[in-house]
Amino acid sequence: MNFNLNENKTVNEIYKLMSQTIIPRPIAWVITEDDGVVNIAPFSYFIGLSSEPATVLISVGHKADGSEKDTLLNIRKYEKCTICMVQESDLEKMHFSSKSLNHDASESEYFNIETINDDQMFPPRIATAPVAYYCTLNQEIDLEGSATVPLVLNVEKIFVDDDIITNKETLSIKFQPIARIGKSYAFLGEDVDAPQIP
Ligand SMILES: Cc1cc2nc3c(=O)[nH]c(=O)nc-3n(C[C@H](O)[C@H](O)[C@H](O)COP(=O)(O)O)c2cc1C
Repeated sequence: MNFNLNENKTVNEIYKLMSQTIIPRPIAWVITEDDGVVNIAPFSYFIGLSSEPATVLISVGHKADGSEKDTLLNIRKYEKCTICMVQESDLEKMHFSSKSLNHDASESEYFNIETINDDQMFPPRIATAPVAYYCTLNQEIDLEGSATVPLVLNVEKIFVDDDIITNKETLSIKFQPIARIGKSYAFLGEDVDAPQIP
């Protein structure tokens, strides 16, 4: 079946087609701050763009009433965010943190998500997250009239919990992340070695 996206397809249908086929997607658990209010929200339109320079991209849609999400407002205002990777044991907290609260309410307090402020220059990281990327805003991408705003972020610093570094000399890291599949979640299976290219 071919789906021509230019012929009467609703945004919801296109979302269904893309979110169930671009899988598995990693989840960026994004922390921003405004006037001391810690905002936390998950984003699965999230990719690593480049290692040189170290950049990632998250794509931020809009709230149900058409207004900007707090994450976007805060990144525009301070040009900073902290992105945590989500491990299996944090699935519930991560999912709950997608609730749309008022701008002056913190998902950290509302859902009791503990954060650690070990770098005053950036929003805190989530205490139980094994990896955190401390990011600055590189640029917004203009999708010409769309309310969705892809943000390119420079990764300035990466925290990796010592417990998931399996070999410091080879810099080998292993943890149990959650992936997004459509509106559900998946865990990773066993690693498979890459085949030798003849
Ligand atoms: C797993 C997951 C992934 C999500 N991915 C996105 C996404 O990529 N882009 C987006 O705009 N919203 C996404 N959402 C919805 C936001 O998390 C939600 O709108 C949240 O309330 C935004 O919070 P904020 O207003 O504090 O920024 C996702 C929700 C979940 C549960």
